[in-house]
Amino acid sequence: MKYFDVKTYLKEKKELVDKTLDNILPKKDCFPPQLHSAMRYCLFSGGKRLRPILVLAAAEAVGEDQHKLLKEACALEMIHTYTLIHDDLPSMDNDDYRRGHLTTHNVFGEAIAVLAGDALQTEAFSILSETEKSCFSPEIKIKVIRLITAACGSRGIIGGQTVDLESEGKEISMELLDYIHSHKTAALITASVLTGAVLANADKDQLTDLNNYGDAIGLAFQITDDILDITSSTEQMGKTVGKDQRMKKATYPSLVGLDEASRLQQELYKKSIDAISSFDEKAKPLREIAKLIIERKN
Ligand code: IPE
Ligand code: IPE
Ligand code: MG
Ligand code: MG
Ligand code: MG
Repeated sequence: MKYFDVKTYLKEKKELVDKTLDNILPKKDCFPPQLHSAMRYCLFSGGKRLRPILVLAAAEAVGEDQHKLLKEACALEMIHTYTLIHDDLPSMDNDDYRRGHLTTHNVFGEAIAVLAGDALQTEAFSILSETEKSCFSPEIKIKVIRLITAACGSRGIIGGQTVDLESEGKEISMELLDYIHSHKTAALITASVLTGAVLANADKDQLTDLNNYGDAIGLAFQITDDILDITSSTEQMGKTVGKDQRMKKATYPSLVGLDEASRLQQELYKKSIDAISSFDEKAKPLREIAKLIIERKN
């Protein structure tokens, strides 16, 4: 592979994702306009687009043309954005800033924020299940929908979010903390990697390797988020930092300290790289993204 610059790679993919999202999402003035404006508000207020980029990078690692999977990649970003809108609600983390802007409920009210999240999730599955203009067979689509719904449901994100809230102010075991992080965050990250892999027709061994890669970077991603909540600034993060401590959230730094949390990040990074050691240079973006996940500043 010729010279590879991960920052340029991410910028190019983000542009592709943003353009596709704009095309597939109902316009602001589509009736009812408040709802469609709120759906677009958070979706287009910034965001690294990590999950759709992982869909594309995983497909690339298996040798598929990324342009074929752009819509499916965008569906993952819509699901992610829905989880953020709901995560920020007063009844959940009660946050005022997201992606450098006021949170959706602060601008549109709580009811519309709940509904915008609901609609983003539904719209995502509508895109994933579209077969007429799709490059993929209904069988493959069902496989992908099945793995994403597993990641999103009560045994996935929602389970993780539930235990996250229930654990506020409590001393919990490392095992339960692992449950929270692997469900609320890593599940969707792994599902993104696997979506790209399944659509690219990955074989069984490749799927196992990519599953392990996703689990490792997914957990590392949330540990980084926990660390940055302590070490970064609100400007840099685009969301209020110091919140985890104030809410007495169960996090890696709160349970094992900052140093041990950083050590675990390194361990997970190594694990993710080892998991995909049998892939050739087409997996370079996945390898670089793993590094960025532990080194990121926002
Ligand atoms: C934030 O995710 C929520 C977590 C799982 C920690 P990101 O850090 O990917 O947020 P955006 O999409 O870039 O705003
Ligand atoms: C978010 O975890 C996980 C999901 C949104 C599913 P956090 O609550 O730590 O994320 P931030 O810090 O608000 O982005
Ligand atoms: Mg939360
Ligand atoms: Mg939160
Ligand atoms: Mg956080």
